[in-house]
Amino acid sequence: MPSLLKRGKMVLMRRVYLDNNATSPVLPEVFEAMRPYFAEHFGNASSIHHHGQETRAAVERARASVAALLGCRASEIVFTSGGTEGDNLALFGLLGSGDHLITSAIEHHAVLNSSKHLQSRGCEATYVPVDGHGLVDPDDVRRALRPNTKLITIMMANNETGVLQKVEEIGQIAAAADVYFHTDAVQAAGKVPLDVKRIGCDLLSISGHKMHAPQGVGALYVRKGTRLEPMLYGGNHERSRRAGTENVAGIIGLGKAAEMARQAFDGGDWKRISTMRDRLQDKILAELEATGVNGDGAPRVPNTTNLYFDFIEGEALVIALDLKGLAVSTGAACSSGAIEPSHVLTAMGLPRARARASLRFSLGKQNRPDDIEFALDLVPQAVARLRELSPLRHATASK
Ligand SMILES: Cc1ncc(COP(=O)(O)O)c(C=O)c1O
Repeated sequence: MPSLLKRGKMVLMRRVYLDNNATSPVLPEVFEAMRPYFAEHFGNASSIHHHGQETRAAVERARASVAALLGCRASEIVFTSGGTEGDNLALFGLLGSGDHLITSAIEHHAVLNSSKHLQSRGCEATYVPVDGHGLVDPDDVRRALRPNTKLITIMMANNETGVLQKVEEIGQIAAAADVYFHTDAVQAAGKVPLDVKRIGCDLLSISGHKMHAPQGVGALYVRKGTRLEPMLYGGNHERSRRAGTENVAGIIGLGKAAEMARQAFDGGDWKRISTMRDRLQDKILAELEATGVNGDGAPRVPNTTNLYFDFIEGEALVIALDLKGLAVSTGAACSSGAIEPSHVLTAMGLPRARARASLRFSLGKQNRPDDIEFALDLVPQAVARLRELSPLRHATASK
């Protein structure tokens, strides 16, 4: 932990982490469940001796736990290295030259860049827009259908705004058109109840590290009967859908996190988190002018709020807050040396200046009410200070 020198004494700086949509800490219970699989239980799950069988049984228990979280059969779960691989496997596993896919303008780059790459291989793609709240209109999806449409892929929850799409309606459109439906549920899993049958999807990706399991593990739900071309060839792991020795400890961690996520829905943990999120958001809005919520008015996951602070640069605010011990983020990306505003916020119609003045706060299960008070002590002050210095202050935010 970084330290400060204060009156000649070293003092630890308090750090509060509100960037759980980027990655979330492994919960102690998850870590404890994983621990034996680094040492005593080291077997290869494909080995037929005692060590292998012990590991195989644990992997299958984890598979059942993930399946219970998603409402599917254990045999429909394929373990992956994370959300990116799950999204890639869904798209590349289904689509070939001449096929058409429908996606949205606000998907994660794991979907957007896969889709662009597929276009370079002879696929056609339609990117449906979103409205000012960040919502896809299911009718736009319906209108985009073509005779050669093979897949609709629309995310369940957006990573920047937390906005939840009408996936059930989109699932019905896909079913009526006899088209596959994939949803990237990486930012929804563990935060809102999921049921693949209710959603009506054929494929759904999740990622461990967004739900307090480790980085580098995830899962793809593949509805029974869906013919997916694998991306990795080798042994017959994961029923020949994903070759490679399993990341056993990661899978055990994902299984434990899935079990805890299910219990948390019954235990009211998400009410606790949404109460903290709402306090953070409401207090900031009450204290600052020219500030608002991106995605307001749409259903959102309970842990995320994305706020704009007109007349400042989001990056500058992230750095100012980090220097004081608060970790948050912007959705901006650095491309060829220039900071590009978030593609999600610009697709929602935000002017570039406002998109660049936006910050995402995302809470996790480890956060406590005093973390929110800590953030509330810092954010309004830091924004006011940056606005005092800002040359943008005298310009309008709509440029
Ligand atoms: C919506 C969404 N999809 C996919 C991913 C990629 O997941 P992973 O980091 O596990 O590859 C992320 C990660 O930020 C995400 O937020």
